[in-house]
Amino acid sequence: DFPIPEIPSCLQLRTVTKGLIPLAESKKLDNYRMGAHVCLWARQEGRSMFGEYRAAVMMQLRFDGTFGFPGGLVDKGEDMVEGLNRELMEEIGWDPSTHPVTWSDYYSTQVAGDRRLVLHFFIKEVTLEQFIALEKSCLQSRDYGKEVMGSVRVPLYTMDNMYNGLPAFLNNKFAGTSKQQLLLALHHSKLLTEHEISDVILKSQNLKL
Ligand code: GTP
Ligand code: MN
Ligand code: MN
Ligand code: MN
Ligand code: MN
Ligand code: MN
Repeated sequence: DFPIPEIPSCLQLRTVTKGLIPLAESKKLDNYRMGAHVCLWARQEGRSMFGEYRAAVMMQLRFDGTFGFPGGLVDKGEDMVEGLNRELMEEIGWDPSTHPVTWSDYYSTQVAGDRRLVLHFFIKEVTLEQFIALEKSCLQSRDYGKEVMGSVRVPLYTMDNMYNGLPAFLNNKFAGTSKQQLLLALHHSKLLTEHEISDVILKSQNLKL
């Protein structure tokens, strides 16, 4: 049984909560395509010249110029988690036999009625070693240079001008609801506090040209 996740007050925004439905409800939808994406992250604490970081969080630059999470459309008749693991193999060279994404990593389901699309989202912590191995295998993946233009680490800090870092990153174009999913994942994994999330949203709106 997978209910709708609890959305923190800092993310009670229409764009974040829109279309969230319990998993069971999404199974009743006929003639919808299904997609599944995952936020893979690893703890990595330290400080660079830019700011303090707590983790490596993986997103990708997609063929269409937007950022998103690895994953993709599940084929008709294909099990959802199997489909997600297949997409991970295609896009980042993930070996599902060694460390698959499972239902214990499930986080949310959103429906995009206008596109007849159901988008499932998973959040999975991996070790830093596994994370780095995935960054490397991404370069060897089937879809690298075609669907996937590169794996990136999300900058989690805010720099002294109060804009560069995560606020600037959030002003990229994101596929589907992946920007909202990123903020939910940062909250769920406790990498950012509610206060830090509100702060970063505010700063990202404070656009510097
Ligand atoms: P093809 O193999 O070329 O069909 O692509 P794919 O199977 O890898 O599908 P893709 O990852 O592009 O996801 C399908 C749709 O979901 C896209 O058209 C986007 O609108 C949306 N999408 C892509 N990435 C994300 C993401 O990280 N989160 C969410 N919520 N939606 C996404
Ligand atoms: Mn340099
Ligand atoms: Mn794909
Ligand atoms: Mn994809
Ligand atoms: Mn696909
Ligand atoms: Mn494809």
